[in-house]
Amino acid sequence: MYRRLFLCIIWVLSSVCAHAQIIPQSQEIVYSEGNFIVNNETEVVYLSARMQKQAEELAGYLGSYLEAKVKISTKYTGRNQIVLKESNKLGGEEYLVTVGREIVSCEATTPAGMFYAIQTLIQFFNNASEGPGLKLMTIKDSPRYAWRGLMLDESRHFFGKEIVKQLLDIMAYLKMNRFHWHLTDEPGWRIEIKKYPKLTEIGATGNWHDRNAPRKFYTQDEIREIVAYAAERHIQVIPEIDMPGHASAATRAYPELSAGGTGRWEGFTFHPAKETTYRFIDDVMTEIAGLFPSPYVHIGGDEVHFGNKIWYTDPEIQQFIKNNHLGNEIGLEHYFVRRACDIVNSKGKIMIGWDEIIASGVTPDKAVVMWWRHDKPDQLAAALEKGFKVIMTPRIPCYFDFVQDESHKIGRRWSTKFNTLQTIYAFPDNISSVIANYPDRILGIQASIWTERVADVKRLYFMLFPRLAGISEDAWTNPESKDYSRFEMKLRQFLRYLDQKGMNYFNPFDPESTPEPWGPDKADVIAEG
Ligand code: ACM
Repeated sequence: MYRRLFLCIIWVLSSVCAHAQIIPQSQEIVYSEGNFIVNNETEVVYLSARMQKQAEELAGYLGSYLEAKVKISTKYTGRNQIVLKESNKLGGEEYLVTVGREIVSCEATTPAGMFYAIQTLIQFFNNASEGPGLKLMTIKDSPRYAWRGLMLDESRHFFGKEIVKQLLDIMAYLKMNRFHWHLTDEPGWRIEIKKYPKLTEIGATGNWHDRNAPRKFYTQDEIREIVAYAAERHIQVIPEIDMPGHASAATRAYPELSAGGTGRWEGFTFHPAKETTYRFIDDVMTEIAGLFPSPYVHIGGDEVHFGNKIWYTDPEIQQFIKNNHLGNEIGLEHYFVRRACDIVNSKGKIMIGWDEIIASGVTPDKAVVMWWRHDKPDQLAAALEKGFKVIMTPRIPCYFDFVQDESHKIGRRWSTKFNTLQTIYAFPDNISSVIANYPDRILGIQASIWTERVADVKRLYFMLFPRLAGISEDAWTNPESKDYSRFEMKLRQFLRYLDQKGMNYFNPFDPESTPEPWGPDKADVIAEG
């Protein structure tokens, strides 16, 4: 009797664990009794040439997993094979996986869908606790949102291509597909532009903590290398060239493009009344459009009022406002954004801007809005009502420069609020009253990390992990398939995976085991904002 009860408990626990295996959670998964055992004889088979690359990826992974060479074939034998089949019935990122005793079948219509089928298998293998195999199961899966993003600010601190590649690997593992790269801001300009060499000869010197830190930037060859690396993982790279504010690194290099200003805000904005500014932007966008195949370019557009005081007194700027009937300085800001949008569009790209662009007069056919001001849900509502497509990265809960635990001292808080795993996991369903009427206008969700207080990789990963896993599930998994306690169980496996990769993280189950890495400066401790 006790033995029966014991076995029953074990069975329940193992089936709970079996249901708790991958992040992000797949939409539908049905288990049945039995296993597919993978061994040295297992073959990876692809039945259409389009799926060859995915077959090679899976065979490569299995080879290192089994420490044996795994054969790739194009012949179906019906025995001990993992078979990749092209289907014409599934959506772009959708896939089906059926695990039988002899055959694991993966179906997708596109290489992206097959890539996700394979990421799913890889996670199951990584997490298997009872030897190299898979439980018998059927998975039907596709993402909730098309945009599943991460933004990295490399202007405040520069991390370099090996770290970016490691992040792209983890993003792929979590089925995330948009890397938003904040490449220009006040401390540094981080991308080579051939026509304006001083942008990196002068503008790439310095970082948030040290104005004289050695130059750091990506050459165009490195950009191409990273874009190609991302594309192999079905990740689009979207560059951000911030304007008209946050332009100090560019105006240090080319003072003739600066609107002026003094002290902290010297050179914060491009000169909005000079044609040479717009010619510069046009030239930069020509090179940017050639480097990044993404249909989008992000032009920032945020926080112009922080550092545009000079606009209110400069005679040339005031005359420009009058001549062009712009009304006032906000009218001028909007004019600038419209010009930037026209330039981006002229290169065949759609503009993305932070939510300040909503009132600028750009239209939903030309621009996409990135909502960041969590304290202004009316901005999100207004963007949706006007017909804009919106990417959501509100400070609470999507900014990962906010602290994640009450005990943490370095990083932002918003009054008493900060970004725990629970707050992240509740998103976006905690704002469904704002978004429910326009489900098709929400492109997706993004984690964003600003790096004023993130100066090295140890701290970068501490801030990103495991929170990025929460964002990935928010962005992929429909609300009815989400479950926080199951997510927590899966996180333990994810932390083990990060351990294997030697990557740092915060351990929410044992905070003392992962003390907060100190920033480079005691002034890093900030309370809010
Ligand atoms: C922003 O956080 N300034 C977009």
